[in-house]
Amino acid sequence: LHTICFSVSTTLILFLVAEVIEQADYLYGSGETEKLYRLLVQHKNSEDAELLWRLARASRDLAQLSSTSAEEKRQLVYEALEYAKKALEKNESNFAAHKWYAICISDVGDYEGIKVKIANAFVIKEHFQRAIELNPKDATSIHLMGIWCYSFAEMPWYQRKIAAMLFATPPTSTYQEALRYFHMAEEADPNFYSKNLLFLGKAYLKLNNKKMALLWLSKAKDYPAHTEEDKQVQKEALELLNSI
Ligand SMILES: *[C@@H]1O[C@H](CO)[C@@H](O)[C@H](O)[C@H]1NC(C)=O
Repeated sequence: LHTICFSVSTTLILFLVAEVIEQADYLYGSGETEKLYRLLVQHKNSEDAELLWRLARASRDLAQLSSTSAEEKRQLVYEALEYAKKALEKNESNFAAHKWYAICISDVGDYEGIKVKIANAFVIKEHFQRAIELNPKDATSIHLMGIWCYSFAEMPWYQRKIAAMLFATPPTSTYQEALRYFHMAEEADPNFYSKNLLFLGKAYLKLNNKKMALLWLSKAKDYPAHTEEDKQVQKEALELLNSI
């Protein structure tokens, strides 16, 4: 009898979790950031990795809103990291948990010193790589790996110097490596993200390949703008195109 009761209640919990997740995905799709956070934060003690990474994402999205104060933002960014960490603890094979853990560590970097930031860079890379291994079709993780490479390729010399003083093998990358990931992301899901198109153009510009830069920047410029970020991308693509 105990076993039956246990399995009934387990089934019930799974059913409820599935329902919350369905509702959460609906709110996420309609851009209802605050409602989404309020829904999910009620379940912050959940043991479910799928729910927890969504809560991490929602906390982070709320932190990014312009209506969020600086103090709230800081708090939310650290809160998001806690949830992502818990999601990973609950399920090491969940690709999204790895992805959001990496994104959230990257966010807290804004509040940490350079040493922590550089140390985190290794952790971030590792988790994006794991996310890609677990789900090679997830274009966002691949794109973010490209962004990681791009930002280390363009790291200014003085930061490189600090990194070299702090770490025996500081993180480094190249524009070629970044480009490889942006192309991989595009192959996994063509035209999925305006920023991937923009960064293909930017990486080609850095490598002095104007022809390819023109091609990708034009695509970024013509990408239909659905979000604030898309509009920013259009603007930057246009400026870069005018500078070629
Ligand atoms: C962990 O996540 C993987 C991939 O999403 C899934 O197949 C597996 O069932 C999950 N394990 C548990 C214990 O929930």
